[in-house]
Amino acid sequence: MIEVTCTAPINIAVIKYWGKRDEKLILPINESTSATLDQSQLCAKTTVAASPDFTSDQMWLNGQEQSMDSARLQNVLKEIRRRARKRKSDGSGEDRVNWHVHICSENNFPTAAGLASSAAGLACLVFSLSKLFEVEGDISDVARQGSGSACRSIYGGFVEWTMGTEVDGSDSRALQIASETHWPQMRVLILVVSAKKKHVGSTTGMQTSVKTSQLLAHRAEKIVPERMVEMRRAIKDKDFQTFAEITMKDSNQLHACCLDTYPPVTYMTDTSRDIVRLVHAVNNHYGENKVAYTFDAGPNACLYLMEDMVPTMLGLVQNFFPPEQDHGEAFLTGLPSKVS
Ligand code: DP6
Repeated sequence: MIEVTCTAPINIAVIKYWGKRDEKLILPINESTSATLDQSQLCAKTTVAASPDFTSDQMWLNGQEQSMDSARLQNVLKEIRRRARKRKSDGSGEDRVNWHVHICSENNFPTAAGLASSAAGLACLVFSLSKLFEVEGDISDVARQGSGSACRSIYGGFVEWTMGTEVDGSDSRALQIASETHWPQMRVLILVVSAKKKHVGSTTGMQTSVKTSQLLAHRAEKIVPERMVEMRRAIKDKDFQTFAEITMKDSNQLHACCLDTYPPVTYMTDTSRDIVRLVHAVNNHYGENKVAYTFDAGPNACLYLMEDMVPTMLGLVQNFFPPEQDHGEAFLTGLPSKVS
């Protein structure tokens, strides 16, 4: 038996992916940018084992056996095995490609609560399988087929997911635009407003948005391309003013598209909106952007801020959202990390 264990961090998009042009290959309607977080607090951990004695592929998530029927899971396994077979033209290690696998995954954060758990989980699975089967080269396009946002968790630092133009999706990959050491003062504060499973998952939510939201079509075509350029420059120049403004506007636009979806999809709650107000009040007070919020498909807030603002922001959060009122917990993490 051979066994590999890996961990993968979550990534939080600052320009959001929302909508697919190909559901099977998971090809997006717009490009996106994210930062991959330090994995000391929030990460997925996966152990994969292969053995000639295993009689079927099997998977457990947080200790519970999962069905292997998922088309995405099957696609990922098939693609990794295909690459492994191609590489093994010399014959060495050939056998293990035909062995069944046992996959054991765990998250140390709430699953499906809009905390990018699928991104970390799928990135981790694909990375572990690639190690197990000795597949080399970029695997972000394989992770993408597990869950779109997962492709960005393959790399550390700041990452873009390029849309690509090929019909087979081969050029729709993640690309690191700045390394994990590029902006060391950057911190992310995650405010867990609710750890409950969201009522509409991102896959279904974005499907309905693509079908019904005119705003989403306009966003993908006219707005995101310009934002991608500006964001890339802001990250390269460590221009927090622009970085923060685009991040907040893009999050707001994602949720505006969700509201424009018919029937509407709502992810943010009153507490999420109170956090938005607090961040703008702080930025107004300083006369410049000191903090940026962003929300994925859930009510939890991710705040990007510089290290020197962390004590102030933590104090304000604890004051306005005391834990005894069941506002959940806060995670503080540094930025850069990558799957390992
Ligand atoms: C709001 O990657 O979870 O977090 O590709 O269907 O698995 P699927 O969707 P998923 O969507 C993430 C959406 C988002 C924005 C983002 O991370 O860019």
